[in-house]
Amino acid sequence: MAEVVIVENSQAAGELVAAEIARLIARRSDAVLGLATGSTPLPVYAALREQLAGTDVSRVRGFALDEYVGLDPAHPESYRSVITREVVEPLGLTPSLVHVPDGAEAGIEHAGAEYDARIHAAGGVDLQLLGIGTDGHIGFNEPGSSFASRTRVKTLTEQTREDNARFFDSLEQVPRHCITQGLGTILEARHLVLLAYGEGKAQAIADAVEGPLSAFMPASAIQLHPHATVVVDEAAASKLKLAGYYRYTFANKPAWQGI
Ligand code: F6R
Repeated sequence: MAEVVIVENSQAAGELVAAEIARLIARRSDAVLGLATGSTPLPVYAALREQLAGTDVSRVRGFALDEYVGLDPAHPESYRSVITREVVEPLGLTPSLVHVPDGAEAGIEHAGAEYDARIHAAGGVDLQLLGIGTDGHIGFNEPGSSFASRTRVKTLTEQTREDNARFFDSLEQVPRHCITQGLGTILEARHLVLLAYGEGKAQAIADAVEGPLSAFMPASAIQLHPHATVVVDEAAASKLKLAGYYRYTFANKPAWQGI
């Protein structure tokens, strides 16, 4: 099963995960990072600014999880814009080495296979950051997504559109379709790191980590992965049955193992 690490707050989560990424880049200067958008990874990116200061990151590569379909890439809430603003510019990554799925409507039928081929050509993702939707999605793999799915177009649930409306002026502006790495694509990354904070994510985390494997709960796919780490604050951990065991395990873990 996934290793669960319960931390005090989102800042501690960000620092812990950033330290793991910094260790990875120290080992491998052309590391391939799997980048998530939304609010959840922001504390990781903030901590990375400090932890990577002075490190040469010019060879680090990145692949975003998803993108809205039909939203102008120049729109401030396109995931291309978000990744540029929150990751590429502040960390000083090389823009041409950081990829986001192409959400342009023209040619969208080929965009998923092309993206998967790019990830494959890069040698796969070393560490994949993941947030989780209140409905259990990872990437934008909404409930019902196949565990074998590849990067493709999906229809966003109304729940997800409502959750993401806070980034737009109105619900109407939130696109209805996205292109997302599939669960099968995500499972090929060498290390999955799923983060969640707040009570609103507690049920999804409990179902993903301790519930049955089900396409109805897409994040439960992480149970199939040999190296998955779930980093949650106390509120997001509040519905985990084995929380005490996870705390005990992490407290007694040798520091050299990292996460
Ligand atoms: C974003 C993504 C989504 C989000 C999820 C949680 O690239 O793939 O799975 O991680 O919707 O969003 P936040 O972090 O905004 O709560």
